[in-house]
Amino acid sequence: MYEAKLYKIDFDVKGDDRGALIAIENSKDIPFDIKRLYYIYGTQEHVVRGKHAHKKLKQVLICVSGSVDIKCQIKDQIENITLNSPNVGLYIEGLVWHEMLHFSNDAVLIVVADNVYDESDYIRNYDMFSKLSSEN
Ligand code: TYD
Repeated sequence: MYEAKLYKIDFDVKGDDRGALIAIENSKDIPFDIKRLYYIYGTQEHVVRGKHAHKKLKQVLICVSGSVDIKCQIKDQIENITLNSPNVGLYIEGLVWHEMLHFSNDAVLIVVADNVYDESDYIRNYDMFSKLSSEN
């Protein structure tokens, strides 16, 4: 019914003696057309963000500064992923319950998505996520 996908993406670093540069292009470095970008910063260490899944949304999370842990769940499988490198993206699609936690003080988490913000695509209730996952 709904897709649930989770994997890491390694971006090409175009480094030289001036430092590093990473370019992200639609459908090439990111496997979809980007319709939205948002970023999360200034998050206190004890704060847990996210705590939802989506019906359809495709996103790639990139921690361009500092570090953050992403706790992901597909059906009953839980995976904890630390993002602490600007050249790694985490692809999350659809029915993946995800929580962002342990933000470092300097953490900046950029998210690119294949659609504009749409509250009706969110599953914010964990029991609903479990129910949909078991039917999937
Ligand atoms: P929220 O969904 O709580 O963020 P997170 O899941 O990352 O913890 O969003 C916080 C607020 O920002 C909420 O009022 C919805 C709004 N928002 C937008 O307007 N556009 C967006 O692209 C996002 C992600 C959130």
